[in-house]
Amino acid sequence: MNVEIFVANANHIDFAPSICDLMYESAQARGTGIAKRSPEYVAEKMKAGKAIIALDGDKLVGFSYIESWGHKKFVANSGLIVHPDYRNQGMAKKIKRKIFDLSRKLYPNAKIFSITTGLAVMKMNTELGFKPVPFSELTDDEEFWKGCQGCRNVDILQRNNYKMCLCTGLLFDPNVKNEHAASSFAKKVVKPVIKKKTPNKMYKK
Ligand SMILES: CC(C)(COP(=O)(O)OP(=O)(O)OC[C@H]1O[C@@H](n2cnc3c(N)ncnc32)[C@H](O)[C@@H]1OP(=O)(O)O)[C@@H](O)C(=O)NCCC(=O)NCCS
Repeated sequence: MNVEIFVANANHIDFAPSICDLMYESAQARGTGIAKRSPEYVAEKMKAGKAIIALDGDKLVGFSYIESWGHKKFVANSGLIVHPDYRNQGMAKKIKRKIFDLSRKLYPNAKIFSITTGLAVMKMNTELGFKPVPFSELTDDEEFWKGCQGCRNVDILQRNNYKMCLCTGLLFDPNVKNEHAASSFAKKVVKPVIKKKTPNKMYKK
């Protein structure tokens, strides 16, 4: 196995149909709906340099792409997919990191967000400094929310006037100091020190 991860380009457009098939099959297996993507749409993302592709030789391993909303004030890293043969090996984490870095480079002032019910995405985004937020903090671009039409829970979203649903909103705001590094530091360094200084017997009678 020799997986390489690239910023996709026009040379990768032949992978677009397999990427869409993989997204569709995975959504079926999870029993969720997805925003519909056509091979042409995915190919456009590749040509525009707004996608990350992972390949093992000529075998498709994974993919994700960037979408911008609300006059480029918001960016979403969408369509994250890893081929079943390559899951649980840290591949999604690497692709997420790359698409996040690419988004920061192409849209340095945009807020990056996602909505998800998936634990894997929640974990990875949290590591990158995303915070959970209500939908009111996300884009109000109708085009983005139209993507929810294919989801089996869209009736819940509509009933709540697009203000809440089963997904959690996750937001990275470039204008807010990323406290995640500080909280990791607190976890690794401060907590053990506090623990050492407050032995359990202090609380015993
Ligand atoms: C979700 C998906 C992208 C994960 O890919 P992967 O390469 O197996 O993920 P990784 O090995 O990089 O794991 C990243 C983290 O997510 C966790 N994770 C991975 N799959 C998980 C799952 N099914 N349930 C819960 N956590 C999961 C891993 O434990 C890891 O967390 P850690 O850093 O705390 O150990 C892959 O299963 C997939 O393509 N699924 C179908 C499409 C999908 O659900 N996309 C997300 C759309 S919102």
